[in-house]
Amino acid sequence: MSGIDLSAPPPPVSLNGKSVLTAILAAVAGLMFGLDLGVISGALKFIGLEFNVTDFGKECIVSSMMVGAAVGAVCGGRLSYLFGRKRLLLSSAVLFVLGSLLCALATSVTLLIVGRMVLGVSVGIASFTAPLYISEIAHQHYRGSLISVYQLMITVGIFVAFISDALLAYSGSWRWMLGIVAIPGVVFLLGVLLLPDSPRWLVLRGRKDEAFTVLHQLRGHEGDARAEISDIEEQLAQIEGGYGLFKANANFRRSVFLGILLQTMQQFTGIIVVMYYAPRIFEVAGFGDNAAMWGTAIVGLVNVLSTFIAIGFVDKWGRRPMLIAGFIIMTIGMASVGTLLYFGTGNSELARYGAVIMLLAFIVGFAFSAGPLVWILCSEVQPIKGRDFGIGCSTFTNWVTNMIVGLTFLTLLNTIGNAQTFWMYAAFNAFFIYLTLKFVPETRGVSLEQIERNLMAGKPLNRIGL
Ligand code: BGC
Repeated sequence: MSGIDLSAPPPPVSLNGKSVLTAILAAVAGLMFGLDLGVISGALKFIGLEFNVTDFGKECIVSSMMVGAAVGAVCGGRLSYLFGRKRLLLSSAVLFVLGSLLCALATSVTLLIVGRMVLGVSVGIASFTAPLYISEIAHQHYRGSLISVYQLMITVGIFVAFISDALLAYSGSWRWMLGIVAIPGVVFLLGVLLLPDSPRWLVLRGRKDEAFTVLHQLRGHEGDARAEISDIEEQLAQIEGGYGLFKANANFRRSVFLGILLQTMQQFTGIIVVMYYAPRIFEVAGFGDNAAMWGTAIVGLVNVLSTFIAIGFVDKWGRRPMLIAGFIIMTIGMASVGTLLYFGTGNSELARYGAVIMLLAFIVGFAFSAGPLVWILCSEVQPIKGRDFGIGCSTFTNWVTNMIVGLTFLTLLNTIGNAQTFWMYAAFNAFFIYLTLKFVPETRGVSLEQIERNLMAGKPLNRIGL
């Protein structure tokens, strides 16, 4: 298992306050992602009652957001090259506020679906731009931790949405559930106005002096900023970019493949199943309504807290060991939930609580590994000229696979069975250990430019960070 070195020395540079603040502001985009993912589950029941919605209508309301997000992720690539990361984050914030208000005021299911699509486009753009932006402003020794803050915001968003849904459920006010998220949207909008443009994008667009000013502020050291700029310029010597580079360059095709693979792995861990259907899983395990609601809130909280493990250790322990440890825990979690469901949890307290503990173990495993690490790696492995295109492809994959897993879960429970469904996800997670060993690089502490040099020199994917 190359790249696993737990005894590495701590990073030599100190964390710069300005770059941390910049990363945190950009990471707030994740909050909108999480709020959107989490809020609909609680609102759906009341929307169904008010508009008399069929099951199919409900599926359309839920999945319209993912369709919008997939569109947003694809368009994000080209737009962020043309207009820059900052303007894209701004437009995503504006769309988010508009979409939330549209949903809250919707007078028909059609309008609600339109509103959810607008929200989706916003979240698709944000999920493309935020990790990319953070990877481009962060120092290589703290890049992993800072991108993990983006994942932390996603988990906080989901948790807050679960809680607000639970509280608003007493009054059944779904319009408030959907509308209230406009407030963090406005806060994000104001925050983005304070962000500098990405220095890498500025160099890409020939605005080297501005890039130097930004990097100088972020690094606090003139020499470091100059060295980084010349490193970036060296990578820009590549003539083709985007899709042209994809067609012309087999090495770039490999990194695009890696991004797509990573996001597919993240979604096929089964995380979305737990996020969307936690109450249902608690019911299947034999808990009543109330317990299911609290169980869901605990799932959200454990998700938030475990993400701190990634923030604290991803730049010390490295990407590969954390990813492998996560997949091992997720395999055990899913396999045990399946087994407990197989033998029946209905009559035994011990088995019921066992299922909850194993579900929480799964969440811990995801939250410190595949959750943050996939976003980190996807924004690290693409060459500068193909970064927009490559991350566009991987983010698109995230949303499409998210939709596939979400839409098939209930059908799987009804066709292959409860236990078998969880075993299937356990098998996927076990297979991902192998895929990680075979394809995933260790990028801890390595500059984006060095990763690119290795990729373009044709090194095997799992060695491009060495
Ligand atoms: C994933 C989402 C998931 C969330 C859970 C994100 O990284 O992309 O699909 O719901 O983490 O925390």
